[in-house]
Amino acid sequence: MATFTERMGPVLLFWLGLCLSGTWAVDKGNFKTCDQSAFCKRQRAITPGESPYRALLETMELTNTKLTLQLINDNNKVRLLLELYRLQGNITRVKINELKPLKPRYEVPDVLIREPPTEPLSLLSQDENGVVLSLGAESQRVIVSARPFRLDIVEGRDVLMSLNSRGLLGFEHLRMRKDTFSYKVTSTVASVWDNIKRVFSSQADPEADNKEATDPPSQVETTKEEEEKVEDGMWEETFKSHTDSKPNGPSAVSLDFSLPGVEHVYGIPEHADTLKLKTTDSGDPYRLYNLDVFQYELYNPMALYGSVPVMLAHNAQRTTGIFWLNAAETWVDISSNTAGKTVFGKMLDYVQGSSETPQTDVRWISESGIIDVFLMLGPTPREVFSQYASLTGTQAFPPLASLGYHQCRWNYNDQEDVRAVDAGFDEHDIPYDFIWLDIEHTDGKRYFTWDPHKFASPKEMLQGLMDKKRKMVAIVDPHIKVDTNYKIHNEIRSRGFYIKNKDGADYEGWCWPGSAGYPDFTRPDMRAWWAGQFAYDQYEGSMENLYTWNDMNEPSVFNGPEVTMHKDALHGSWEHRDMHNLYGFYVQMATAQGLIERSGGVERPFVLTRAVFAGSQRLGAVWTGDNAAEWDHLKISIPMCLSLGLVGISFCGADVGGFFKSPSSELLVRWYQTGAYQPFFRAHAHLDTPRREPWLFGPENTALIREAVRQRYTFLPYWYQLFYHAYQTGEPVMRPLWVEYPQDPATFALDDEFLLGRDLLVHPVTEEGARGVTAYLPGKDEVWFDIHTFQKHNGVQNLYIPVTMSSIPVFQRGGSIIPRKLRVRRSSACMEDDPYTLYVALDNRRTAEGELYIDDGHTFNFEKREFIHRKFSFTNNVLSSVNLEPDAQFTTKSWVERIIILGASKPSKITLRTADDQENQLEFDFDASMSVLTIRKPGMNAGADWTMTLQ
Ligand code: NOJ
Repeated sequence: MATFTERMGPVLLFWLGLCLSGTWAVDKGNFKTCDQSAFCKRQRAITPGESPYRALLETMELTNTKLTLQLINDNNKVRLLLELYRLQGNITRVKINELKPLKPRYEVPDVLIREPPTEPLSLLSQDENGVVLSLGAESQRVIVSARPFRLDIVEGRDVLMSLNSRGLLGFEHLRMRKDTFSYKVTSTVASVWDNIKRVFSSQADPEADNKEATDPPSQVETTKEEEEKVEDGMWEETFKSHTDSKPNGPSAVSLDFSLPGVEHVYGIPEHADTLKLKTTDSGDPYRLYNLDVFQYELYNPMALYGSVPVMLAHNAQRTTGIFWLNAAETWVDISSNTAGKTVFGKMLDYVQGSSETPQTDVRWISESGIIDVFLMLGPTPREVFSQYASLTGTQAFPPLASLGYHQCRWNYNDQEDVRAVDAGFDEHDIPYDFIWLDIEHTDGKRYFTWDPHKFASPKEMLQGLMDKKRKMVAIVDPHIKVDTNYKIHNEIRSRGFYIKNKDGADYEGWCWPGSAGYPDFTRPDMRAWWAGQFAYDQYEGSMENLYTWNDMNEPSVFNGPEVTMHKDALHGSWEHRDMHNLYGFYVQMATAQGLIERSGGVERPFVLTRAVFAGSQRLGAVWTGDNAAEWDHLKISIPMCLSLGLVGISFCGADVGGFFKSPSSELLVRWYQTGAYQPFFRAHAHLDTPRREPWLFGPENTALIREAVRQRYTFLPYWYQLFYHAYQTGEPVMRPLWVEYPQDPATFALDDEFLLGRDLLVHPVTEEGARGVTAYLPGKDEVWFDIHTFQKHNGVQNLYIPVTMSSIPVFQRGGSIIPRKLRVRRSSACMEDDPYTLYVALDNRRTAEGELYIDDGHTFNFEKREFIHRKFSFTNNVLSSVNLEPDAQFTTKSWVERIIILGASKPSKITLRTADDQENQLEFDFDASMSVLTIRKPGMNAGADWTMTLQ
């Protein structure tokens, strides 16, 4: 038996390394640059020029919904198969695979919510140079040029997007390793094929084997392949002490996209970088490879925990998107012909008539899989969101409580600690909904268990919270302690559910528990089994107010290459390389499924994940991982969550206070103030940091934090409605200003402010020692009301706002109506029946509108249309509430206790008419200095029809 030091050695060394590493900085040497990633280096070495690919027009087949065409690489004669589809909703899909690969190449499953419905394609013209197809909508055409191959999507006279226009299409065909075969080029095709079958039969998908067995692949028909250069890193690659065995050899795919007229591109999270993506000519491309990066650095393109291969391109005329559906390690290069030019330089160009059309060029490079790309053609930001949502789904509609405040640290030590912290919130009159337990709550990092001494009676603890209408989250990580006394491990092993290493044994790596296995979450049977572990009779000590946190699901492997799993590990017949970026998505999927099933399908789950992929929005919330208590980390939380929101993942937050290090009280307060206006609002801290519950920084700071958290709770009705909307449409809850002001270039690169929905503009204070901030108020016809002072400001302007420590600059858009609940209590559930205050902010035309959404806050009954969805409008001095979805049914005890009209004039009387035709005169106050009209106790039920006339 191994000694303790032998078993824990790597973990201890890992942590020792961390502790000794001293100052804050990622150890870049632990992570590959493009140059150190053989496929990236190979592909990046191909420079723009004439593409070796030619379209073989004689192979073209056009059905009503699909064009297929072979491409040939004139250098090696390998053929590819191009498929082009027109999808519903102004999306074009381009798939490129090898015509006859040696074995199937990975196509990402489970991310698309369905096989996307197609629309007719029709041929407009054809000659020896290419073909022109109509894409149906708005004179859109796709031009397929044959020599060299390229695709252009054109609308009217404008080119919207070109593919392979720079000739960077690359497709490394699967091939046989030469040094392991002593066949001659002259061997018969049949005998070569026999060899291939023998070599690959152990790995290939058996069905595919059968399919292909009678059909020798085209690659072996050529002798050219034999002349191809074998480069280092094609069949084996070593990084630090790890050798990647690459049994399938080189298999990278890459393609370039040109975006004429575009200077701003966004998305491809997760990176700790600006909202507007930078050009990458002078450094590395942006990398998408889910990694546990210790002490990540800001403003750089290194990979982080999540990967969503979706980029949005925007200019004042149009928004488009590129969704590159590939789950392997991916790099994205961005270049632009205007990058680096100053505004003055651009102006000079314009005056001298020398300006070229701005253009952004991007190039995607993935290690394996196929090219499967969705071109989302907008034209508005909303349409791009809905196009992407039609492919991958929308944000899961979270339980209302999860939009409240979350108190976490690594770790709350024991039940008494939990009780004391919980009581601290009551004592200091700060609301919260969830208290969190990190890994130390388990019995020796065995997930689904409790430390028998520190958490001896978890149900008692959970019941205590439940009595106060509060909830708990406990962590469940996907690495499973290898321990024959641990039921979860034994079951996973005996069912053969662990990922295998390249030799076929269970893969083992080091993580928190020491030696750990990693369940193969790509398997539906494994996910079903895992989901079953959340059943109340399986997960001992759990109750319905216990929810789940999935961490380390990149997956993090302390002693693995780049702190993750070996790429040659096996998921059945697929290599980990093919689907690495999907692992975390599947972990969260299985967990969310478990929480749904334990309630018999009744309750909505809440699962927080660290690793994400496209489609993760359907499964819960995400946070930005291990940030630090530094001002720049507070600032970067804004573009990081904005970027995730743009690609559908709305439920995003950063550790409030910063995970590593200790925040000054000023930073902590500013972080609470910012976090209160970000979607996922959770304080969290590293094990080694001093305690930092909100009341530990003196009464003044406690008061400031209390106020920030309470502001959050007053806005919960608005947050909930925004999430309902995100669930319905895919629109981001927290969004960049350009989404609402797409024609205003001043909004295109704003990183320090954001909108919540359309109607709240937030410019948090993120500078140390700030005396003021300058907020950009957009919209030349807009007015904006300071939500605290009710002062009115016109758009468009840069407004300087003097700030004190209590300031959180937030503005409500004139023209909007926002419902709030001002009686803040212990938790969101305690406020369920509380009355609403409507904030009616009038625009320049003295109109406003808004919505209110109410349901039970936690079940799926809203899918059975058990909810209230109201629309409020103010026009011609009449405020009304009408039912937006009359077929929906729900009742509420909540009523409207106050209406505050901003930008109002003084009426002589106000008459309320209710649905039963009763009329009432209402009392009101008018503050002439601020033009604020307050109507007291109008008293209508929040679900009722009514009109209110101001005379
Ligand atoms: C890493 C996570 O990012 C962090 O939030 C957590 O506290 C630790 N793992 C321990 O579970």
